[in-house]
Amino acid sequence: MKTLEKHELRTQRKYDRFAKVYDIFEAGIEKRFFGKWRKIVWNTLPRDARVLEVGIGTGKNIPYYPDRVKVVGIDFSEGMLAKAELAAKKHSDKDVKLVQMDVTNLKFEDNTFDFVISTFVFCTVPDPISGLKEIRRVLKPNGTVIFLEHMKSSKFLRNIPLYLMEPIMRFTVGTSVLRETKKNILLSGLRIRKEKNLFSDIFRMIECTKGE
Ligand SMILES: C[S@@+](CC[C@H](N)C(=O)[O-])C[C@H]1O[C@@H](n2cnc3c(N)ncnc32)[C@H](O)[C@@H]1O
Repeated sequence: MKTLEKHELRTQRKYDRFAKVYDIFEAGIEKRFFGKWRKIVWNTLPRDARVLEVGIGTGKNIPYYPDRVKVVGIDFSEGMLAKAELAAKKHSDKDVKLVQMDVTNLKFEDNTFDFVISTFVFCTVPDPISGLKEIRRVLKPNGTVIFLEHMKSSKFLRNIPLYLMEPIMRFTVGTSVLRETKKNILLSGLRIRKEKNLFSDIFRMIECTKGE
């Protein structure tokens, strides 16, 4: 991995520590919402697709991988990856290879993957536009990127609770609840093909193509 900048190292270390309790911390929201949304994302993937999952975390998507889909899962946190290894062992029928890697410095050739999937990652990546540009680079010309992300709302009033939560989230896990992820996606050169609000316009599924 490239040498991480100080602010990136801080986030990486927070996730190394958070890994121990991450699944417990998110258990409620996972059961109520995230699990259903993950199923929708992964069900759209065709057999034999070559997939990159960025920021795989503790491997919460692994149970939802369709059969005969080949996935490379990357994350820059060793702690999160160790948990993902356990999830991969538990679901040994899934074809997944885990690698420690920074999404802003992907060690893959241009135009490698049919799909790139990112679930709840770009609220955290310290340098989001670089990461999104890297995703675009490794995506095949006819490939698809699917994001399941939370972001700042377009409505002022809906952002008030987010502004209140922001300092706690930043301090504890280095996540921002006010990221303008849609704007960042567009700035990276990816083109939005489809967009769906899942919970208000805060949690969204955004499907993209490589763009021109
Ligand atoms: C909120 S967690 C989401 C994990 C998982 N995708 C999920 O759906 O539960 C964000 C993940 O992104 C990873 N991450 C953040 N910045 C990264 C970077 N620059 N490169 C690779 N992984 C990164 C963190 O280590 C963490 O595992």
